[in-house]
Amino acid sequence: MDTKILSGLDASKALFGGLVARIDHLKSKGVTPGLAAVLVGENPASEIYVRNKTKKFESLGLKSDLFRLSKDVEETELLKLIEDLNNNNEIHGILVQLPLPKHIDSEKVLNAISPTKDVDGFHPENAGLLSIGKPRFVPCTPKGIMFILKHFNVDLNGKHVVVIGRSNIVGRPISILSSLKTLGNATVTLCHSGTKDLKYFSKQADVLIAALGSPEFVDASYIKDGACLIDVGINRIEKDGKSRIVGDVNQESVTGIASSLTPVPKGVGPMTIAMLVENTVLSAELLLN
Ligand code: GUN
Repeated sequence: MDTKILSGLDASKALFGGLVARIDHLKSKGVTPGLAAVLVGENPASEIYVRNKTKKFESLGLKSDLFRLSKDVEETELLKLIEDLNNNNEIHGILVQLPLPKHIDSEKVLNAISPTKDVDGFHPENAGLLSIGKPRFVPCTPKGIMFILKHFNVDLNGKHVVVIGRSNIVGRPISILSSLKTLGNATVTLCHSGTKDLKYFSKQADVLIAALGSPEFVDASYIKDGACLIDVGINRIEKDGKSRIVGDVNQESVTGIASSLTPVPKGVGPMTIAMLVENTVLSAELLLN
């Protein structure tokens, strides 16, 4: 079987194409969507993610401010910055890059972000809206996965979606999204580190979403013929003396067995950034209307 590559880069270009008119409309009303990205400490992966996010905003003519805080910053100082950003009319979206240093209570920080500027969709109000089927700001990675599936005509209706990983950032929200009648209408199984006999479930998947954060974990023995595979992993590994990025799927092993597959890189990653832009544009629109 030919395995079709579901390019997140191509899908993100289609999304940006559709955003241009919405951005132009906002600008004609005197509104430039603005993001505030907060980076605490010097985590090298976080540095790259945040730089890629702010660069994308700039390339689209949007406002993006980066706030860098030292790894030893007091929690109260970070909370004060968030309060200032909540009250800043030029900022429509606030993103605090995770993970935060251990001395900071991440939950307290995420809860301090105004739910109307929570473009990551991590605030309990937005998570609650999603769980009752009334999504407002949906976390960017799961929202990006839904866009890729739609863009490449992978229909979820009545299909069995199996998710591996139950994080608040990817696994749990994608399990809810794909089950919603109006969005996916799929039958969903959410597997995690406590799942006994993972292969029993993963082999049933019409669409398998690997979001467990374990390099090349899913190989051919985990899937059925013709499955669609969504690889959410971004793992840095050393191979043959070189450092490279691999996903949670062993792409070589499943090629020829899966019907389609998101690559790593240029798969889910570019969609996460694209959806951050979409959520920030949406936030500016909601404020205007
Ligand atoms: N760390 C890993 N993924 C994300 C994300 O989508 N948003 C934020 N803020 N931090 C992350």
